[in-house]
Amino acid sequence: MIVVRTIAELRAALAPRRNGTIGFVPTMGALHEGHATLLRAARAADDAVVMSIFVNPTQFNEQADLAAYPRTEAADLALAEAEGMDVVFAPDIAEMYPAGFATTVSVTGPIAETLEGAERGRGHFDGVATVVTKLLLAALPDRAYFGAKDAQQVAVIRRFVADLGLPVEIVVCPTSRDADGLARSSRNTRLSAEERTRALAIPRALEAVKDAAAEGVAHTGALRARAVAKLEAAGIRSEYLAFVDPETFAPAAVVEGPVLVAIAARVGTTRLIDNIVIGGA
Ligand code: PAF
Repeated sequence: MIVVRTIAELRAALAPRRNGTIGFVPTMGALHEGHATLLRAARAADDAVVMSIFVNPTQFNEQADLAAYPRTEAADLALAEAEGMDVVFAPDIAEMYPAGFATTVSVTGPIAETLEGAERGRGHFDGVATVVTKLLLAALPDRAYFGAKDAQQVAVIRRFVADLGLPVEIVVCPTSRDADGLARSSRNTRLSAEERTRALAIPRALEAVKDAAAEGVAHTGALRARAVAKLEAAGIRSEYLAFVDPETFAPAAVVEGPVLVAIAARVGTTRLIDNIVIGGA
């Protein structure tokens, strides 16, 4: 496994591998089993696999969140090697945002402006879209892998990849969960034991919605009430609990086709997100 720090080194490392497919997994490090499932999906599908580690400052709306973000490069490199990565790209901030940097990739409309976009501010998805565009242009992979837990991030990335005509297939891997259902996240390490137990109400709220939809409850207002009851029983008030079209993020009043059910909530001071899709074909 080669570790490179500059875009020029990344291109040189990938140049001899372009006779086969290149799979790319962008990360902010602090890798856990959820990332490992993305690495394995890439390793299984592509001839060469590259992972990036870059804690992107422009997508953080809270300085404290950026400062608290775990940085575990040695462990991340060990995991990348164990999962068979060929190349790891771990640039510093100046490499990604050189002096005078003045360009932003910005997706507009409900995809980027509602839910996470509303809670975290306009800059969050601008930061994600700009850094992912730069990473994709640096690696020029055939496929790039993302987790379904970040459903809105996936929708934003699909949108600008289509709009800009970037030649990459976006592969979305199912949300990786602990055995008790909690969606894996780098933030889970910040939960106390008591908070982690309460956080289980989030996947249980989503399960309650799924069960009710399977029983034929179609109005999202009634489905929402099932989820709220589960959250409230654990003392959790959601930042949002939304039923939207998975592609456009337009609100869904009735489940007539696929509907993304997305939750964001703070448990203690830790902000967690999770989602499921109901009503699929
Ligand atoms: O999902 C993440 O870890 C980040 O948003 C990403 C895609 C690596 C961009 O910084």
